[in-house]
Amino acid sequence: MTAQRAAVILAAGKSTRMKSKYSKVLHHVGGRSMLGWVADLADSAGVTRTICVVGESNQDVRAEAERLGLEIAVQEPQRGTGHAVLCARDAVDGFEGDLVVLYADTPLIEPNTLSKVFDALAGDADVAVLGFEAKDPAAYGRLITEGDQLLAIVEAKEATPEQLEVSFCNSGVMAASTKHMFSALERVTDNNAKGEYYLTDIVEILREDGHKAVAVTGDETEVLGVNSRPDLAMAEQAFQNRMRERMMERGVTLQDPATTYFSFDTEIENDATVGANVVFGPGVKVASYAQIHPFCHLEGSTIGEGAQIGPFARLRPGTELGDNTKVGNFVETKKAKVGNGSKINHLSYIGDAKLGQNVNVGAGTITCNYDGYFKHITTIEDGAFIGTNSSLVAPVKIGEGAFLGSGGTVTRDVPRGALAIARAEQINKDGWAERYHKTQKARKAKAKK
Ligand code: UD1
Ligand code: CA
Repeated sequence: MTAQRAAVILAAGKSTRMKSKYSKVLHHVGGRSMLGWVADLADSAGVTRTICVVGESNQDVRAEAERLGLEIAVQEPQRGTGHAVLCARDAVDGFEGDLVVLYADTPLIEPNTLSKVFDALAGDADVAVLGFEAKDPAAYGRLITEGDQLLAIVEAKEATPEQLEVSFCNSGVMAASTKHMFSALERVTDNNAKGEYYLTDIVEILREDGHKAVAVTGDETEVLGVNSRPDLAMAEQAFQNRMRERMMERGVTLQDPATTYFSFDTEIENDATVGANVVFGPGVKVASYAQIHPFCHLEGSTIGEGAQIGPFARLRPGTELGDNTKVGNFVETKKAKVGNGSKINHLSYIGDAKLGQNVNVGAGTITCNYDGYFKHITTIEDGAFIGTNSSLVAPVKIGEGAFLGSGGTVTRDVPRGALAIARAEQINKDGWAERYHKTQKARKAKAKK
């Protein structure tokens, strides 16, 4: 039987090196907070409870943790990672299973990798740490091993020159039974270079008790800890590369993968193609055979099968495009439901709108959805034809199969099958231009003399 699992996520403290008014762990990678990533990881490990340790001044972290449904423990002041876990003690009181500690500034660990840590605990290890081979170990804690045993974790500031040569580093993920974890933490001291209670010290303490510590190995790209803006950019890049590979493995064509940007929840079906320089904000779903042409920006949108988007289209939240729809260059959509086969090909703004099937929206059409106070809905029924340069002043409804003459400002509903002309009538004045040129030329000639 596998033991019950709980997670403690450490998210307290200010991010001096981030130079930010936001707490460090609220900065985003792939469109979601680092804390959001780590909460999701804990969830994937099948934990029964997750406690997030926040500082008194980290109200923003508390709010995000509550939004994510995490329990809260407060650490004030912040006296180190070991002290932080101790602050969750009351919250986990009575819990008897395995406890994993996760750092909220380490967003990209994969569920499979975390499983390896729990597998080690289920085997003969009493404490298991996730390590990685670092290309540049820098300030990471060094894992001192002998055979299959982990002897100690030495923080860079405490390390001897010899230990600094070690490239096997601490990711921060550590798991042990709740009992062992707290029994060891009680004995951690702040007698070190930073004057902090290090979580990492429990490895040696548990070994002295006769327990076995092991390190499992993860990939460096997963365990990157974010302490600064350059670290954040590195994490973003690692995430993007991971998504690009995953999308291509799933059968999505990326014309130029290095210029395609995804969010944590982007979903694209096989045989969709994505041109160069496309950005997927959060909440985008794309069906098979859709083509996203270069230079598009999409968020909160659903794209149907075989739809053609862009180049240069901006799809904002609430856009739902049916199958075989077309949204062309310099078109912006927002809260727009567009039926199968409808086209909005050029230079338009379609917001708060519901379009039926096979609607043709001419170039330069604008839904005037906002009166300065409220938003209003434009409805265009199946098969309607909207002439170029139309302004649709919402609320307004264009009936099925209706035809709008171009250049209209439509303020009243158009019945089905009708033609609506909503522009000043044209006046032709015979000979006017000829007379005009003649008089103007004469005036100019006179002025020169
Ligand atoms: C820590 C590890 C180091 C490891 C590295 C991996 C320790 C002593 N060191 O160093 O071995 O290689 O992470 O990225 O654990 N936090 C609190 N309360 C505190 C201090 C920290 O909640 O009092 C939280 C922070 O919000 C952060 C996490 O714990 O999310 C890690 O703290 P940080 O100060 O970034 O540790 P590192 O110096 O990076
Ligand atoms: Ca860190």
